[in-house]
Amino acid sequence: MQNINPFYVMDILAQAKKLEAAGHNVIHLEVGEPDFNTPEAVKRAAKTAIDENKTRYTAATGLPELKQKISNYYKQRLSADIDAHNIVITPGASGALQLALSVVVNPGQNVLMADPGYPCNRNFTRLLEADAKPIAVGPQTRYQLNHRLIDKNWDDNSIAVLLASPSNPTGTLIDQAEMLNIIDVVKQHNGLLLVDEIYQGLVYDQADFTAAALSQQLFVINSFSKFFSMTGWRLGWMIVPDDYLNAVDRLIQNLFLAAPTISQVAALSVFDDETLQLLDARRDELNKRREFLLTGLKALGFEIRLKPAGAFYIYANISKFTEDSFSFCNELLQQAHVAITPGIDFGEFQAGLHVRFAYTQPIEKLQQALDRIGDFLSSYQH
Ligand SMILES: Cc1ncc(COP(=O)(O)O)c(C=O)c1O
Repeated sequence: MQNINPFYVMDILAQAKKLEAAGHNVIHLEVGEPDFNTPEAVKRAAKTAIDENKTRYTAATGLPELKQKISNYYKQRLSADIDAHNIVITPGASGALQLALSVVVNPGQNVLMADPGYPCNRNFTRLLEADAKPIAVGPQTRYQLNHRLIDKNWDDNSIAVLLASPSNPTGTLIDQAEMLNIIDVVKQHNGLLLVDEIYQGLVYDQADFTAAALSQQLFVINSFSKFFSMTGWRLGWMIVPDDYLNAVDRLIQNLFLAAPTISQVAALSVFDDETLQLLDARRDELNKRREFLLTGLKALGFEIRLKPAGAFYIYANISKFTEDSFSFCNELLQQAHVAITPGIDFGEFQAGLHVRFAYTQPIEKLQQALDRIGDFLSSYQH
């Protein structure tokens, strides 16, 4: 446990709650969760599920109808043929990541991942008595691993590569041509590729694709949390290669028994045309927020080296103001009541020079946040 780090954003959140309890108005741009509510159709379906006593365990890998809906969704939206049989339903992408890493990694092995990147992956790997091998990435590679970096950093103990596209915290993508190169290089090393597509559907300037369409030998992780506005329902899924289906099934039986039943039944309704239209409109709203906050932050002197193309994050360089992003975030919260996340949450590489903004609030709130940050910076001393 000594190697399991806290999620620092939770410290910021706890302090923000304290300020709110003392009567202050805090603008939350720290947590990865937009202000949108779960669609009405999903809420109605959950209420009906409870009334109809759909409250018992499902099969370990999930409801067959839900797998089929997800398979159809891939076909309709991404022109990808994904067999429902390869889809397993999980307790969030968190459950999927734990399952994938558990069936792939042995003690003493390592998993290549980008630094900065989603912090929990390092801790999941550590829990398996294995190691994360963080690889520093910057604007030159769109803050992502590429096939060259993977080839260069692969060692005798490496077993897998874990990518996230779009990425948290940078919102940057891996394009299809590069994903194919990565698939090749991982295959040459007899390794396994895990691709976290939790922000799939939240891509703004280009067509979306799934890595699962490019190879049947990868694990693709996804979730109802982000595009589908269902964070608290704890529901996700994973596309699993044939050879690993049995192992994943056995592990779900032991670790979780199954994903939450009410959430699974409710999620069947999220694929209705009307609901998908609503979710698309939310994506368009996030896109407006992205443009608005980018312009505002740049005007205040934040350096944003790459325009984020997906998710709902802006990863900004603050070297003009300080080299200690943790203190910067704390002071910003205490003095200006704006909560953002320090770079140290996402790794070590230049962590003190970066912060993450989540554009999860309406534009009026973002404007207020910008005003407050502007006032804060005008008297900021480091
Ligand atoms: C990249 C990434 N993967 C996985 C998760 C876990 O999401 P959930 O368990 O809610 O599906 C998150 C949450 O923020 C994330 O950003």
